[in-house]
Amino acid sequence: GITRHYKFNIKLQNVTRLCQTKSTVTVNGQFPGPRIIAREGDRLLIKVVNHVQYNVTLHWHGVRQLRSGWADGPAYITQCPIQTGQTYVYNFTITGQRGTLFWHAHISWLRATLHGPIVILPKRHASYPFPQPFKEVPIVFGEWWKADTETIINQAMQTGSAPNVSDAYTINGLPGPLYNCSAKDTFKLKVKPGKTYLLRLINAALNDELFFSIANHTLTVVEADAVYVKPFQTKTVLITPGQTTNVLLRTKSKLPNATFIMAARPYVSGPAAFDNTTTTGLLEYEKSSVSTAKTKNKKLPLLKPVLPQLNDTSFAIKYIRKIRSLASEKFPANVPKTVDRRFFFTVGLGLIPCPQNQTCQGPNNAKLTAAINNVSFVQPSIALLQAHFFNQSKGVFTTDFPSNPLVKFNYTGTPPSNLFVKTGTKVVVLPFNTSVELVLQDTSIIAAESHPLHLHGFNFFVVGLGFGNFDPNKDPSKFNLVDPAERNTISVPSGGWVAIRFLADNPGVWFMHCHLEVHTSWGLKMAWVVMDGKGPKQKLPPPPSDLPKC
Ligand code: C2O
Repeated sequence: GITRHYKFNIKLQNVTRLCQTKSTVTVNGQFPGPRIIAREGDRLLIKVVNHVQYNVTLHWHGVRQLRSGWADGPAYITQCPIQTGQTYVYNFTITGQRGTLFWHAHISWLRATLHGPIVILPKRHASYPFPQPFKEVPIVFGEWWKADTETIINQAMQTGSAPNVSDAYTINGLPGPLYNCSAKDTFKLKVKPGKTYLLRLINAALNDELFFSIANHTLTVVEADAVYVKPFQTKTVLITPGQTTNVLLRTKSKLPNATFIMAARPYVSGPAAFDNTTTTGLLEYEKSSVSTAKTKNKKLPLLKPVLPQLNDTSFAIKYIRKIRSLASEKFPANVPKTVDRRFFFTVGLGLIPCPQNQTCQGPNNAKLTAAINNVSFVQPSIALLQAHFFNQSKGVFTTDFPSNPLVKFNYTGTPPSNLFVKTGTKVVVLPFNTSVELVLQDTSIIAAESHPLHLHGFNFFVVGLGFGNFDPNKDPSKFNLVDPAERNTISVPSGGWVAIRFLADNPGVWFMHCHLEVHTSWGLKMAWVVMDGKGPKQKLPPPPSDLPKC
């Protein structure tokens, strides 16, 4: 591979959406941010210079960071923030991955506007395991708030209440004509008839899973989270925050001048977060040279896609189950066949008492919180990776993250009333090369909502998924160890569970959290500490000299 250099200046830029101008934190003045292009095997050197008053870190979401944990980016997990006026060079190599990922800020809510695509092409002369596309187009879904998002989340954290929902969803930063005064802010994809396009879909929204569809066109899913999948056709894609999906779009052979609507709107897994707004863009066929006067005059009506109902869980589950590893000779699914350690984690919301000198606006004057195994993660004052590497964990973190919920969990169809939440900075320590099986069980406490769990530093295999209580005696016999989806983010369904497996072959400290940003803010997060192995290629090297200090 080669070395590719990028310079990311974090700076303010006025951006106008929904008829309002907002001073926006951007990379190089661009929103959404610039695209990173690399080939499998390339090294990336991304020089980040912070010119704003906020502390910043950037994360390369889904990049495995093999023995390069210092470049992973979550604030206070692998690094201290880049402060105003400081510079940090993220230095990592893309190993064994090709496809679509994305980068985003990993501190507070800055990723609302600090995000952009990562396009990883196959090695030179290597081809895709599907027809070579005529053109490739990144499509980034996002959310736009008229107000300043840092103010919104800081106030919500102060009062313990839920933060305001966004004012619009966006396609490549543009809301589209269904929103107030946004007709001119519409994403347009110009296509030629009879060609294959590769759409690189990225959900960079903060808090919503999305359905996406293009009127009168079928999409072929070929990749998820930068791993090839068994191709399948669908009218609608479901994509959670933190997930990426590559789809092939075959344009119709004889449709000069036609225009079709593409649309994205939330999948709402519970009654809590109702939201019916829709972002739309246009698929515009170019005038074809063979078009006759007759077809030119025949203006087709603008067709709208039919999206599933907002709460169509049956569609969602069918769709999720269709995603299977390609599991070919060239792209095998290396599912761990044996398990060294088993974990059972509950994920969901909770309440903590309002601090004495505060008034809280959560239910019963409490503060809304979120937890894994009844532990709500407290951000440490220095980065965990630093504390681990230099043997300074005392007073920073403890290694007693529970393997099972602190209060026994039983889901009976209605959310249990167990609201017990403890706070702490707790981690699980894993010896190098531990084979882990982790069952994630949604609690549905306070809000019935699915949780897109994201693991840093690894891909995992989704070996099982079900509803109600996970049954350790019956469910494992049904696990798929042949061609399960291999990904970095999976939605734990509301009132259900998923089982994942991964091999802890990457020494470092690896964050795991709900990719709904509000749940991360509330503490639905934890970290795995993976110890060095014995071999020289099994150790984490020391930090770079420019690693920011706290
Ligand atoms: Cu895309 Cu830890 O996040």
